[in-house]
Amino acid sequence: MIRAGLEAHGMSEIKAKTRHGEMSIDQLAEIQPGMAAVMKEVGERFTQTYYAAKGGNWKLAAHHLNQVRAEFRKAKVTRPKFADDLDAYDKEFLLPIFESIRDRDWVKFESTFKNGEVGSDLYHDKRGYPHIRYVLPKEPRSDLFLGPPEKFVRGSATGV
Ligand code: HEM
Repeated sequence: MIRAGLEAHGMSEIKAKTRHGEMSIDQLAEIQPGMAAVMKEVGERFTQTYYAAKGGNWKLAAHHLNQVRAEFRKAKVTRPKFADDLDAYDKEFLLPIFESIRDRDWVKFESTFKNGEVGSDLYHDKRGYPHIRYVLPKEPRSDLFLGPPEKFVRGSATGV
């Protein structure tokens, strides 16, 4: 009876238990990161991509840009209405940045990254957020070594 009632309201009866109590699977779904949380991470990872490439740590740049993609995948699950725009942005703007990282081509990287910045403005405008503008910080904010991995020395001035 109860099960039928819950299902009639489109609610799941599956419960998740923690040592603090129980929550329904619907409540669990409800608290998954939405667009604001995802985009905060996207902005930080995008910045880190830039400074890793600038420092010559191309593998780290690829890692950070992959995390931008991973955040897009997350948003496509929790906020499916943005899926098409995120896919389109990936194809038009992220892919060329990935290619420049693959080629270790700083000149190409800088121009494709700049296009990516402009692209984010286009999509923020399109989705009704003209007041949201990504800007690249003037200094890297990283606790990771940004130079080529083979130049890393633990304890040296550049490796601390
Ligand atoms: C690399 C590309 C992008 C960057 C760096 C970026 C960056 C950001 C940043 C920093 C915010 C503000 C987050 C906060 O602190 O609240 C934001 C918000 C937002 N972005 Fe992006 N974004 C990018 C691409 C996109 C794309 C392609 C879309 C298309 C759907 C999009 C849709 C949104 C939306 C809807 C918000 C508002 C979220 C909310 O507050 O609910 N962004 N973005």
